[in-house]
Amino acid sequence: MRTAATVGDLRRALAAYREQGQRVALVPTMGALHAGHLSLVEVARRRAGKVVASVFVNPKQFGPGEDLSRYPRDPEGDAAKLREAGVDLLFAPSVEEMYPAGFSTTVHVAGVSEGMEGARRPGHFDGVATVVARLLGLVRPDVAVFGQKDAQQVAVVTRMARDLGFDVEILVAPTIREADGLALSSRNAYLSPEERRKAPALFRALLVGQLTYELGERKAARVLEAVRRALSTEPALVLDALDLVDATTMQPLAQVDRPALLAAAVVVGKTRLIDNICFGGPAAAPQETPR
Ligand code: PAF
Repeated sequence: MRTAATVGDLRRALAAYREQGQRVALVPTMGALHAGHLSLVEVARRRAGKVVASVFVNPKQFGPGEDLSRYPRDPEGDAAKLREAGVDLLFAPSVEEMYPAGFSTTVHVAGVSEGMEGARRPGHFDGVATVVARLLGLVRPDVAVFGQKDAQQVAVVTRMARDLGFDVEILVAPTIREADGLALSSRNAYLSPEERRKAPALFRALLVGQLTYELGERKAARVLEAVRRALSTEPALVLDALDLVDATTMQPLAQVDRPALLAAAVVVGKTRLIDNICFGGPAAAPQETPR
């Protein structure tokens, strides 16, 4: 595996791949890699001859008071895992390399980025869209892979890539879970053993929501109420957000009459965990979003 810390090094490596006629896949990450990230690499490897992974903790997507300074970082461990997973090129730029002096562009994706996590974390999706647009512009991949765990991010990036005409397929890889259902996340590292034991109640509550739908309930309010009730049985998890939205537009649903995303955020101790589940439509994994 080669490592590029600068845009120049990245371009040289990419030029060689293109000369060889290789398809290129991009897996953008913020590091602190776990099996969920490595599953994105696996999807990428199936779809392209060369896989580029980026590791960059993007300051633009953290709000004031969020966990930028304590976000877990493990550059050596990340490099070892990516090498082992078969990544060809690791792009690990500094903040100055990613956003050189004079960098003045912000990408705002209206609508899809504005509700849910976008409303609760102002500026977050502008930061995500800006860094992903820069990465797509620098790497010009044939395919870019994102995880379903960050479902609204997927919707934002997909809309942005379409609107700005990036010639890339956005692939969505399914959420990887621990045996007890907890979605893998870099933030799980913050949980105490006791919090870790209780955290799977989040996914169980989402499953109650899905079951309520599958048993015939179509009123969104009733599905949400069932999730709230299930979560209230585990007081260590404080519900921070709960949404039932159209899976593509991220607009709230009154009736579950189309593919829907049920998404929740809870606070466990000092850690905010998110998770989601899709129902009401075909579930394909990994799922390709048409350009
Ligand atoms: O999902 C993430 O880790 C980040 O939001 C991403 C897509 C790498 C952009 O910084």
